[in-house]
Amino acid sequence: MAAKHILAIDQGTTSTRAIVFDDGGRPVASAQKELPQIFPKPGWVEHDAEEIWSATVEVCRGALAKARLDAKALAGIGITNQRETTVVWDRNTGKPIHNAIVWQDRRTADRCEALRRGGHEAEVTAKTGLILDPYFSGTKIAWILDHVAGSRAAAEKGALAAGTIECFLLWRLTGGKVHASDATNASRSLLLDIHTGDWDAGLLKLIGVPAPLLPKVVDCSGELGVAMADILGAPVPVLGMAGDQQAATVGQACVKPGMVKATYGTGCFAILNTGSIAVRSHNRLLTTIAYQLAGRRTYALEGSIFIAGAAVQWLRDGLHLIAKSSDVEQVAAHAKPDHGVYMVPAFVGLGAPYWDAGARGALLGLTRDTGPAEIAAATLDSVCYQTRDLVDAIRGDGAQIDELRVDGGMVVNDPLMQRLADTVGMQVERPQVVETTALGAAFLAGLHAGLWPSLDALSKTWTLDRAFRPMEDAASRDRRYVGWRNAVQRVRSS
Ligand code: G3P
Repeated sequence: MAAKHILAIDQGTTSTRAIVFDDGGRPVASAQKELPQIFPKPGWVEHDAEEIWSATVEVCRGALAKARLDAKALAGIGITNQRETTVVWDRNTGKPIHNAIVWQDRRTADRCEALRRGGHEAEVTAKTGLILDPYFSGTKIAWILDHVAGSRAAAEKGALAAGTIECFLLWRLTGGKVHASDATNASRSLLLDIHTGDWDAGLLKLIGVPAPLLPKVVDCSGELGVAMADILGAPVPVLGMAGDQQAATVGQACVKPGMVKATYGTGCFAILNTGSIAVRSHNRLLTTIAYQLAGRRTYALEGSIFIAGAAVQWLRDGLHLIAKSSDVEQVAAHAKPDHGVYMVPAFVGLGAPYWDAGARGALLGLTRDTGPAEIAAATLDSVCYQTRDLVDAIRGDGAQIDELRVDGGMVVNDPLMQRLADTVGMQVERPQVVETTALGAAFLAGLHAGLWPSLDALSKTWTLDRAFRPMEDAASRDRRYVGWRNAVQRVRSS
């Protein structure tokens, strides 16, 4: 029997998932494991890379068992991952020399500020499409080398390897045979020239990252390595790799210039496909690689919000206002209309379009009759307002966008999707498969396996579940939004 299934690994910020897809792009079975978060200091976020690895193996085996398939039924593996989260490990032992530093971590804010003050931002942005912010992986690598004794010298001698999570997983899956990062993940490092697709020697020097540490940059679809037989019971080729937001762009079939999607996970990331042109933003959006196939890069404009679903998690774990995340919908439903409460979830600073690493979160507009319902509603509203920030910035950069494709865990909440449509003033479209991140990774792998002949062919599998049309009048929408902008102003660090 021909191998017609794809195993997608989706290693996200708060959980590790594996989903088996069939050749129609339909999910057959999945397994998931929560990932513990480590907060060593305010503004610092780490993960245990060994835990990520063992969870990955566990969920892959779990998904295959649930699907009642063995590894021989797999045409390949697709990997997608939380981007920017950085691991440095020993090439000999394969052991990480420090916890992974997570994308949300702010510990290199001062380093970024110093580079900015040194007048380097224009050069960095021109080459990488990024902004000097601790979000990206380059300064995280440098921090590890500066804080783990002996590591910089070891890195210079080629004894260490660095990479984002897809790169670490590929290394482990292949038993240390392959050290490679796909172009989308590499484009989030402050070290890659996105116009040439190569590491840039000047940037490596500026950020303080020795070249021997870095992986080879590869396409998002191709023969990327082979997972060793003892992991799943038979050798399985790894055929696809992309950062989670880029994978979701493919999974949402946003494969033509002008198409845009927003994914609501831990954060929210809006990506506009700009085709073969690396468009320079005038509104502090990022220019990034959407995917690279057969050496050809497709570019995107990206708006990155650091906290979306994580704000609901904070209601659950920080405030104990709800028992489980899905309860937020019911609690918020009881909020008084026009309660005037704003929640700015700047727990780890603000991303696009503000890029303020020093901002911190706030609840504003509280009165004696403010209760859990209003706080829950304000938290969900913050997700909508932040999306409007991004949509306005994308439009400000000249894109004509009329509908927004949405995905990720939060989009099953119908009232939230209606509020989103009202807040951004445009149609919000939810597809039938909302696990588009994993689907995108499966598509990239399936493309190489020959399950789908082209991106166009797989985009035909996209089906609408429900469209939400804006119902609120523009004056009311804008009044609420002005309140949000004022609230953001209050938490800015400068
Ligand atoms: O850039 C960070 C992003 O890739 C994390 O995604 O889904 O874990 O919020 P997520």
